[in-house]
Amino acid sequence: MTTRHDALDRVSNLFRRQFGNAPQSRAYAPGRVEVIGNHTDYNGGTVVGAAVEQGISLAARLRDDGVIRLYSDVQSSDGVIETTWEAYAEADLAEWTRYPLGVIDEARLRAWSSEPFGLELAISSTLPVGIGLSSSAALEMAVAGALANLLFAPEAQPSRGLLVESAHRAENRFVGMPCGLLDQSVVGFARENGLVVLDAAINRSMSLPLPSNVRFVLFRSHISHALVDSPYEKRHRECRDALLGLERFMPGIRHLARLHPADLDAYASVLETRLALRARHVVHEQRRVGAFLSAINSGDLAAAGACLTASHDSSRAFFDNSTPELDALVAAANAQPGVLGARLSGGGWGGSVVAMVTEEFEEKQAELICDSYEQLFEIRPHWWQTSAAAGMISESV
Ligand code: GLA
Repeated sequence: MTTRHDALDRVSNLFRRQFGNAPQSRAYAPGRVEVIGNHTDYNGGTVVGAAVEQGISLAARLRDDGVIRLYSDVQSSDGVIETTWEAYAEADLAEWTRYPLGVIDEARLRAWSSEPFGLELAISSTLPVGIGLSSSAALEMAVAGALANLLFAPEAQPSRGLLVESAHRAENRFVGMPCGLLDQSVVGFARENGLVVLDAAINRSMSLPLPSNVRFVLFRSHISHALVDSPYEKRHRECRDALLGLERFMPGIRHLARLHPADLDAYASVLETRLALRARHVVHEQRRVGAFLSAINSGDLAAAGACLTASHDSSRAFFDNSTPELDALVAAANAQPGVLGARLSGGGWGGSVVAMVTEEFEEKQAELICDSYEQLFEIRPHWWQTSAAAGMISESV
């Protein structure tokens, strides 16, 4: 298996090949899996995630002429992309460059440097794009980590929370995707063999040990998922509208996810049916997160897994963010021994399914799940197993 160290060495070589120079800073940021807490983050709820083994490595060097040069081994079919400190915000460049440029823009707004700067960035990834494992947050966090090393002295490094916040703001503001805090927080705060439990209402997270006999197996549906231009924004608006509708009857409520199910039952009839269904998903998902955490704490793995499957059922029935492909993967996974539960992971509308499994789950079970998917959709999904990995690391070189 490739270690992070190997990945960082490889990206240094990529940097030298592309830019003819040695990097000054490097970072590695993993992808993430959303374990449970679907669409609760931007509704002020709690969400649980873990970092996966695959990730993005990045090497960087400052330039003093204001020129910004970006290269990615998976995205740059046209070679190095070039812009400048003056022009990047308006430049019409490949879509993927919005993520690194957004972080540069955030650093600029936050005055991380008193002077304009230029930059060379080489990016190498083992994390496929569009499968719901947050390659965008991994890229943003890797850029934030590498940039902090370049622009601040070792004793004045910004806190991890500030890097997470900058990456998140970059995505909201520069990319234009109104995501919640889950992705950047997991990529930033994950610990090896740990779950990240994020309270998005107060932007605080903690780490909870993952029971040692539990692993995650990911199945990638063949429907790629992109959040920009997906119904994500629409759901975001629907949740806000549901909150505003309910607030007329419950003055002072601030977060949809913090409502008691009984309050929702009492007032849901004031909402249009679609909004009531969205609210139902969020309010009950928050309860499932609580049930999942208690089950993990008490070692009741079967109950924890059942929360994942119930979350998926609610996505399908009330939030309308599943697809037949994701439903088929969840059903096929749940039919196998050793699977504790399964659900779509992340925004939805394609991407991957995460199954929480015990040691009883073997390779042949994963192949059987793929067989049954292939029979339905005539295409074989990819699958892989991952432990819970550590979060972003960065270093000066
Ligand atoms: C995407 C977003 C997250 C979160 C999930 C859904 O991954 O980036 O902030 O809203 O969808 O839970």
